[in-house]
Amino acid sequence: MLARSESTPGRMAMYSANKLKIGLFGANCSSGRAVTKVPERWTGNWPDNLKLARMADEAGLEFLLPIGRWKGYGGETDYQGTTLETITWATGLLAATKRVTVFGTVHAPLFNPIIAAKQIVTADHIGEGRFGLNIVVGWNEGEFEMFGVKQRDHEQRYDYAQEWLDVIKTIWSDQENFDFKGKYLDMKAVRGKPKPYGGGRPLIMNAGASPVGQAFAIRNCDAFFMQASRTSLEETAQKVARAKDQAKQQGRELGVYTVGVVTCKPTRKAAEEYYHHCMEEHADWSAVDGILALKNITPQTVPMEQFVVQRSQFAQGLGGLAIVGDPDHVARQIADLSKAGLTGIALSLVNYADELPYFCDEVLPRLERTGVRAKR
Ligand SMILES: Cc1cc2nc3c(=O)[nH]c(=O)nc-3n(C[C@H](O)[C@H](O)[C@H](O)COP(=O)(O)O)c2cc1C
Repeated sequence: MLARSESTPGRMAMYSANKLKIGLFGANCSSGRAVTKVPERWTGNWPDNLKLARMADEAGLEFLLPIGRWKGYGGETDYQGTTLETITWATGLLAATKRVTVFGTVHAPLFNPIIAAKQIVTADHIGEGRFGLNIVVGWNEGEFEMFGVKQRDHEQRYDYAQEWLDVIKTIWSDQENFDFKGKYLDMKAVRGKPKPYGGGRPLIMNAGASPVGQAFAIRNCDAFFMQASRTSLEETAQKVARAKDQAKQQGRELGVYTVGVVTCKPTRKAAEEYYHHCMEEHADWSAVDGILALKNITPQTVPMEQFVVQRSQFAQGLGGLAIVGDPDHVARQIADLSKAGLTGIALSLVNYADELPYFCDEVLPRLERTGVRAKR
């Protein structure tokens, strides 16, 4: 039987034979990750999510990663203003699929750990070991104000998350009626049953970008999401190797993943035109500027040149690598990321369900031929 401290290989698509895992990112939110006004933008509604999840499951994609978002960003489209709560979203999708791993994205400071532990276990039983947990500590002040919860300073957020996760992992272990006294949490005679499905525990990921966030991920998680370099594959390879080495030094195996925004069309010209149409001509610029302001990125706080670049990067999906081209080009760029040592990539599309079939028909076979994905 698997130690309860480990996640559950064998039951989860995240442990598939594919060298490079592929997932979809952000489909639980209206507009997904594309800050665009085009009418075909993603609804984020349940029927579309269900259709997409079944499609991804059939195609052998490894995971679905939602965004934990409580408040839209405004603009003409109220970007990400309509969102499905991620643990309940995941639970519904797990019941409707067979092999794909579905994450819930949980704000540690907003969920009592005992409730979170039980919700996660419930989802994990329904998915027979396929639930994954993305721990986030939050960054959006307005969301916390809405809850009436005070945001801690940055370092303390991860300190708190450590206690939160320690409690959850102990609930999932064989310990019963334990007391927990930390700096933030003081809990008595804690217990929780059932335990996670199959004897292990759900897969855990985090995407901290700061040194303290990265250290948290490396110390605690099975999967770490990072920003790949937009300009140098070599730089990406070094970042990946560094994270994996640091985990190894702590006796841990770490999967390192990144985020990509794909526009794939039959020709490079068609892809570039569509990208320009969605992310430039029809970008929801007022929403983009609102998001940038939340991050304190304005013409007053950063040099104009940098502001212009960041504005355009945020329109195409709040960061992430833009992968724009014909199927050969898209497959080559994704395969190169695998060569740089990445374990997987979470992709987003303007309209996930409309665009995924073309990606699966054209890009997946090319990835199979280069050996980064096994033949289906
Ligand atoms: C793949 C990925 C998924 C993320 N999901 C969320 C999310 O759903 N909600 C959220 O508030 N932050 C999310 N974040 C933000 C990170 O959790 C993290 O806060 C951010 O990268 C900044 O790092 P730091 O906390 O170390 O400063 C995500 C980031 C990435 C790269």
